[in-house]
Amino acid sequence: MRRKELRIMVCEYDAVVELPDADQKLLLAAREACKNAYAPYSKFQVGAALLLENGEMILGSNQENADFTDGLCAERVAMFYANSTYPDVPVKAIAVTAKNAHGIVEHPAQPCGSCRQVLVETESRYNAHMRIILDGRKRIQVFEGADNLLPFAFKPKDLE
Ligand code: THU
Repeated sequence: MRRKELRIMVCEYDAVVELPDADQKLLLAAREACKNAYAPYSKFQVGAALLLENGEMILGSNQENADFTDGLCAERVAMFYANSTYPDVPVKAIAVTAKNAHGIVEHPAQPCGSCRQVLVETESRYNAHMRIILDGRKRIQVFEGADNLLPFAFKPKDLE
């Protein structure tokens, strides 16, 4: 028997102004993207902003449906758009913000399992870690790489 211990890392900030400039810019873009959310059912609006290696910024927001299972999270809307528009350009960072009836959530809304899986896939695809910035009024979290969000992920190499 081997007992293994995995370490995951997160940096936490108390306010947007404490973040490096590039992260601040991306987070503010995610807040803008949040305004385009279509979330009449959950009333939970999520915005995502991606920074690509070529400097391009891609925005996305959650898009819901009367058939609830057909909606899609902001992260995947943005990620799939980026990957389909710029298939050869790595994604350097993603910022995510979420709003409920009281405004931006106090503590970061955590990406769902499916979005984590898609972040892992995008990192594998471009062989590059992504910076993941999660917005909250009381706390902003920054992860260096999706392995910190989804340890033991199913990856392309598992198909071999
Ligand atoms: N949602 C996202 O857009 N991203 C997440 O990471 C978590 C959840 C959306 C899906 C749905 O439209 C609403 O938030 C409530 O779950």
